[in-house]
Amino acid sequence: MKVSFADVMIPNTGALGLGVLKGGKLGPLGESIDKKSGGALKRAIKAAGRFAGDKGETIEVMAPTGTKLSRIVLIGVGKPEDFDQKAAEAMGGTFARRIGGTGEVRAALAIDAKATKVEAFKLAARAGYGARLGTYRFDAYRTKEKPEKKPSLQELAILTDKRADAQKRFATLDKVAESIFFTRDLVTEPPNVIYPRTLANRAASLAKLGVKVEVLNQAKLAKLGMGSLLGVAQGSDHEPYVVVMQWNGAARTKAPVALIGKGVTFDSGGLSLKPPAGMEEMKFDMAGSAAVIGTMRALAARKAKVNAVGVVGLVENMPSSKAQRPGDVVTSMSGQTIEVLNTDAEGRLVLADILWFAKERFKPQAMINLATLTGAIIVALGHHHAGLFSNNDDLSQKLTAAGEAEGEKLWRMPMGDEYDKDIDSDIADMKNIGGKGGGSIIGAQFLKRFVGDTPWAHLDIAGTAWSYKDTATVPKGASGFGVRLLNRYLDELFAGK
Ligand code: BES
Ligand code: MN
Ligand code: ZN
Repeated sequence: MKVSFADVMIPNTGALGLGVLKGGKLGPLGESIDKKSGGALKRAIKAAGRFAGDKGETIEVMAPTGTKLSRIVLIGVGKPEDFDQKAAEAMGGTFARRIGGTGEVRAALAIDAKATKVEAFKLAARAGYGARLGTYRFDAYRTKEKPEKKPSLQELAILTDKRADAQKRFATLDKVAESIFFTRDLVTEPPNVIYPRTLANRAASLAKLGVKVEVLNQAKLAKLGMGSLLGVAQGSDHEPYVVVMQWNGAARTKAPVALIGKGVTFDSGGLSLKPPAGMEEMKFDMAGSAAVIGTMRALAARKAKVNAVGVVGLVENMPSSKAQRPGDVVTSMSGQTIEVLNTDAEGRLVLADILWFAKERFKPQAMINLATLTGAIIVALGHHHAGLFSNNDDLSQKLTAAGEAEGEKLWRMPMGDEYDKDIDSDIADMKNIGGKGGGSIIGAQFLKRFVGDTPWAHLDIAGTAWSYKDTATVPKGASGFGVRLLNRYLDELFAGK
């Protein structure tokens, strides 16, 4: 679907989306169509009975008289003072999803509201963004889909004044959308297609956008002393990789922010094998790395004036006669030893080495890691907030605000020395699991032992990387969680906001 911007007028073909404020008030274009059609829109609103103009509500008017339109979709947008950029984005997503598969090829959506605080061209750009995000599909393996089941919508024109400004603003957002799709694709791909080598290849493709990419193979990782990461990988026939991606869009003097991603391309649990039911979900255990790769892609695609380095640890966690055993002791790159009591607590073992590596090599001003780290975070927060663990209040507050603005919400969780003691081992520096309870905090405390004094945040995205319900801008499936949040956080940080 292509998104364009055009002046506000009644199109002479296709579907048209119009906002309706709470209470049933139409915008200027809606009013003029209502007049032309002898009151068809207001009659439809009345006939619909309970349509109140609340956010997300829709009704359709087919073949409205006095126009050449095939249909008009009336979309509730709530109170005028609530019609902000997020609401415009949801409106775009709602409209495009509603008509995307109806047979309509061309559609227009009017953003002609006057009474809002935000300039209309910004709302228009965000509506286009929402439409793009909401109509994402992953079709790579459908070979038998009937044409009438395929999306029909090809062109969406957003109607607004200052269309050139809207177009320009949208162009940047669209690059972020492409990068979110890149992330969603990676997470959706099956684990026989995406494994460490192929995921490294996809990350390496960012070089064509100007990202400096290094792919470190097993021999290199061994030389670096990454015994903790290598222990996880040793049960699999797939060789592990660490990929380093650098984007320097700001002054050389500014230290980068390091983005670190867990990339377990399949987590069987290893010898501490997971139960069969639901094991297929563990293809998404590389979602943290996919979010980091997608963010780096977004930064490069829109030539962001920020310095960032992405580091992802790519391994497959499998049982075999070569696999690491419960009870093994491994030595991490930091020199700290780890008693591996459960091979299914593998994400932290991977992150331990790449957090340390990123800190030592890049001396970042901050480190943010993303990981589908614990099932326990789903128990605590469900699917609507990711867990935020941090040693720094300022970083936490900035990330939380960025998440709020982008609809990728974070909830800060506690940490503390009492929890840290729970991972002391009897025979090594630490063990990779604690006792009962507080499993997500234990995971965070483990990571904290590898970050030194660097301001650091750990986002446990186990509950948010996959979406189980369609929303206006996130269809069911891989959400791409983290790309929007990090993209905004970095922009605001380097702009000094
Ligand atoms: N990848 C899983 C975490 C996970 C579980 C993500 C369910 C999404 C849904 C992680 O590697 C894991 O297995 N964690 C264990 C830790 C435990 C052994 C301490 C868990 O959560 O059960
Ligand atoms: Mn695991
Ligand atoms: Zn895992």
